[in-house]
Amino acid sequence: MDDAPLVHGKARPGRDAGATEAGDDMPGPIRSGGGGGDTATGREREKVGIFFGSTSYGTADAARLILAAFGRDAADLYDVARASAADVERYRRLVFGTSTWGDGGLQHDWDTFIHELDRADLEGKVAAVFALGDQVVWSKSFVDSMRTVHDKLKERGAHLVGSWPSEGYTFDASRALDGDHFVGLALDKMNQRDLTASRVEEWVSRLRREFGME
Ligand SMILES: Cc1cc2nc3c(=O)[nH]c(=O)nc-3n(C[C@H](O)[C@H](O)[C@H](O)COP(=O)(O)O)c2cc1C
Repeated sequence: MDDAPLVHGKARPGRDAGATEAGDDMPGPIRSGGGGGDTATGREREKVGIFFGSTSYGTADAARLILAAFGRDAADLYDVARASAADVERYRRLVFGTSTWGDGGLQHDWDTFIHELDRADLEGKVAAVFALGDQVVWSKSFVDSMRTVHDKLKERGAHLVGSWPSEGYTFDASRALDGDHFVGLALDKMNQRDLTASRVEEWVSRLRREFGME
């Protein structure tokens, strides 16, 4: 029986990366690919590493949906508050999620983790981004944080996939737009909560193809 934690990474004082708004209702633990070492096993390289930063659990819950959509044997989940460049480098396929704070800024734990990415060699890796935001209250900076993460990954040499149509959202401006597509999946739990699950399902099914998993 595999007793690996659902969310991987080293514990930091005062943080419980495993918590979600709904509680940990995922059925049992996922298999860990690496057991905390810095060297990728062949199995880990083939899995998807999902990294998220979340303040009020929205992005954490979305990350768990993404994990479930890939299948818990096919992906590992990390809270960026506990993750390092070495964790990222274990995976060839990567997904990164942040929520949006301030006026288009990154989620708090990303302020540190973005510098971990500066130490990571992402050449030859394929990556996708998702972000949570609020298109009504923060209509002029909707999911701007997704652009910051996307551009950092690109700068570090990753090949970015996973763009998502902006149709179905109403907002004034977003730095995360390229024409009529977001650079990754935009989610809005405040105003479109009931669309989150279907958006994640569709996005992950596209990612499977773009990641060369089918
Ligand atoms: C103070 C504050 C600032 C925010 N700024 C933005 C913003 O600039 N753009 C945006 O799209 N959403 C913004 N939001 C909305 C959050 O990103 C949204 O509530 C998100 O679901 C939080 O995700 P989390 O629970 O994973 O942290 C803001 C929310 C708060 C409370």
